Amino acid sequence: MQPSNHSAIASFPVRRMDFNFAQSRKYWFADDPFMSHFMSNLSSLFPYGEQFFVDSVRAWRQHVNDPQLQKDISAFIGQEAMHSKEHKAYNNYAAEHGIDLQRLELRVKALLEWSKHWSSKKQQLASTCALEHFTATMAEQLLKREDLTTQMNDPKLYQLWMWHAIEENEHKAVAYDTYKAIGGGYFTRIWAMVIVTISFLWVVGGFQLHLMRKDGQLFNWRSWGKGLSILLGPRHGFLTRLIKPYLAYYRPDFHPLQYDTETLVQHWRKRLGLATAEQV
Ligand SMILES: [Fe+2]
Ligand SMILES: [Fe+2]
Repeated sequence: MQPSNHSAIASFPVRRMDFNFAQSRKYWFADDPFMSHFMSNLSSLFPYGEQFFVDSVRAWRQHVNDPQLQKDISAFIGQEAMHSKEHKAYNNYAAEHGIDLQRLELRVKALLEWSKHWSSKKQQLASTCALEHFTATMAEQLLKREDLTTQMNDPKLYQLWMWHAIEENEHKAVAYDTYKAIGGGYFTRIWAMVIVTISFLWVVGGFQLHLMRKDGQLFNWRSWGKGLSILLGPRHGFLTRLIKPYLAYYRPDFHPLQYDTETLVQHWRKRLGLATAEQV
């Protein structure tokens, strides 16, 4: 949630998007199987993952009294629903290249449904806060790392990921503020982060092996080497750089807006020609 002195509208807009991926290439990231599959891997998490975020915030919204937060919850739901829809469109299109992301989507759905059976509504909201911290910090990296994003050689997929990255930063505090507003505590928040981290690494690691194997790339060591150095390189690795903001989440006084990305987001909104809340 960005600071706003205009109480009648949400702090950020819901933008209607409708991408067409018909011209998209199979290896659209750095002409490389590993990195292209890694992004598809993340994309397979979104259709049901973002629905889980929406459901877990919606389940508590009647307990939120702050009118500004109510507006922002509505905009959050709208943005996440649009992300689900557009990633679903990409995932369906990936099948044209023989990449079966629908099967992975269904595994995510089954995992989330199973987790709902043994967790409370508050724990589900805490899990959403943890996953929103993942998406916000990964998105921040994407907005900052032109050395990586210039390797996206498909204009539609570039726009999809950068638009999503902007909006993840615009709404990054909504689930967290909702959790605080309903009296969510430190222990549940941290315990959820531990569970979410283990699950996320397990799922993404498993999906990456699956996608590489199905594409006949399991023993393409060159692609593994290139991809793993992009993700885990000691100084500039995409995931390596997430360690510091990840650990910050464990501080009792953590809040998502302690990572101020407003200037960065403004820059990218202009660059992609996206409207602000006041313009929509
Ligand atoms: Fe999203
Ligand atoms: Fe999000």
